[in-house]
Amino acid sequence: MRILVTGGCGFIGSAFVHMALERGAEVVNLDRLTYAGNPANVADVADHPAYSFLHADIADPAAVAGAIAGCDAVVNFAAESHVDRSILEPEGFIRTDVLGTATLLQAAREEDVGRFVQVSTDEVYGSIEDGAFRETDPLRPSSPYSASKAGGDLQVLAWHHTFGLDAVITRGSNTFGPRQYPEKLIPLFVTNALDGLELPVYGDGMQVRDWIYVDDHCSGIWAVMERGAPGEAYIVGGGNERPNIEITRRVLELTGRDESLVRHVTDRPGHDRRYALDTTRLRSLGWAPEHDFDGSLARTVEWYRERRDWWEPIRSGEYRAYYEAQYGGR
Ligand code: NAD
Ligand code: TYD
Repeated sequence: MRILVTGGCGFIGSAFVHMALERGAEVVNLDRLTYAGNPANVADVADHPAYSFLHADIADPAAVAGAIAGCDAVVNFAAESHVDRSILEPEGFIRTDVLGTATLLQAAREEDVGRFVQVSTDEVYGSIEDGAFRETDPLRPSSPYSASKAGGDLQVLAWHHTFGLDAVITRGSNTFGPRQYPEKLIPLFVTNALDGLELPVYGDGMQVRDWIYVDDHCSGIWAVMERGAPGEAYIVGGGNERPNIEITRRVLELTGRDESLVRHVTDRPGHDRRYALDTTRLRSLGWAPEHDFDGSLARTVEWYRERRDWWEPIRSGEYRAYYEAQYGGR
């Protein structure tokens, strides 16, 4: 099986590239190498005989047509993926997450690809006070990021409905693990804590996310790629609902720091209060998460402790400018 993986130099995409090669697939990794795309994430497979890399943009029709030709499946991870950046600069999100997705869909249709997998997010449903989201719930995205992802999802469903493209969607929850760019909650707080820097908790820190370990997210995407019903979406959730402040305290314990590093800062505008997910549909495909939250978080912290060579170069240059724009004066 030959799979076009887009965004394979990012956090989840690189974990999926490793999983796909281990499972015997041939992988073409197409990545634009934005600030979040890091060739080091796939350096260990660069010479693998079943792996190839293409430096390209998913919104470039000629590049994606060439890359898709001969592939059995496309798994689209490529995206602008961080909510805070989408609040600072929304345009790039619309370009990649909506237009880029549509460009890929068109190429997949023209090249008659067997299966298109759109990697989306639980955030397309918005916030939920009680209970848990199901796939059939209406899309009510709150941020420019989640609205762009919802736009991409709707393009996917339109290509399925109108052109008969065999497409499926995964809607994964907040993911953590090694190789995550240190701008999202867990890698930001872990690297700040390791350096003795403050942890900027938005508002009261009682917002709830459902956390999933990256390999469980990838095995969910794999199950949907193999066995999902065409035109359907599948929620991929770890079942680990935690308020942010609890994650913050765990990170402090695991890094040997105390609560003096916690700094409550101005809340994110339009901040979703709670995400919670019903994974019955994906479980009906035989999937279940295999990694417990506490052990996986401890291993993730260990990875960042040991891999300063990976994250210290990132936390300079563009990152510093972003950090100042995002947190300066907050
Ligand atoms: P990431 O930001 O770590 O990586 C994104 C990758 O896409 C990078 O390698 C980047 O270079 C590449 N990319 C960006 N724009 C591109 C373009 N126009 N053309 C080609 N490549 C481009 O993201 P991630 O956290 O690994 O997320 C991957 C996917 O999973 C995204 O679609 C995201 O919406 C979704 N998702 C993420 C999470 C999470 O918690 N991280 C949760 C649910 C869903
Ligand atoms: P994040 O990792 O950005 O993921 P998402 O917004 O896609 O859920 O944020 C997770 C939660 O952590 C969210 O409620 C916002 C909060 N958060 C902070 O409190 N401080 C921070 O510096 C960041 C990045 C996030």
